[in-house]
Amino acid sequence: MTNTSLAHVLDAARALHQATPLLSGFAPWPVDIMPAPVAPLHVPAADLVAALGLAAPARCRPFVDAIRAATAHAHWKRTYTEAEVGADFLARYGYFELFGPTGHFHSHQLRGYIAYWGEGLNYDWHHHEAEELYFVLAGSAEFLAEGSAPARLGPGQTRHHAANQPHAMVTHDEPVLTYVLWRGAGMADLPKMGRAA
Ligand SMILES: [Fe+2]
Repeated sequence: MTNTSLAHVLDAARALHQATPLLSGFAPWPVDIMPAPVAPLHVPAADLVAALGLAAPARCRPFVDAIRAATAHAHWKRTYTEAEVGADFLARYGYFELFGPTGHFHSHQLRGYIAYWGEGLNYDWHHHEAEELYFVLAGSAEFLAEGSAPARLGPGQTRHHAANQPHAMVTHDEPVLTYVLWRGAGMADLPKMGRAA
């Protein structure tokens, strides 16, 4: 059985996704979702998310509250090594795949992550084949991408990355909690550090 708190996260994701044209316009909510139990895995950032005190707008709050309540049940990941990003980054960043090829809920149509970065972190340039949409749930971050103007985004705002478009992200005086979608070719891959596609 998939944990009920993760089912609540999925329900909240679906509600926001279906009510938000910026999200449903990127990809419709997947219709092939099936529970695919994945064991919990803790990282230090999970505790930071559980204790997150950031204000979120009303339409994001059920999703943020469901995430905070489910942190102990999620399979948290960190794609990068300490050599790549440093110990402080690894201690204050983490994500889990809510739905997708290897998520708590299985889908081949779309991949959806919950991802968190603490304040004052530099997520250096990286790239991946899948097309991506970031949606800020709480906090803020500055988004950088080759060929696009930098933009500091807060709750309810989105950032699109084209296939293989190198991008980076910097948090300033507050953390950021995001809902991240991947679609298309390369959806099951991992991002790679560096600017070269
Ligand atoms: Fe990305």
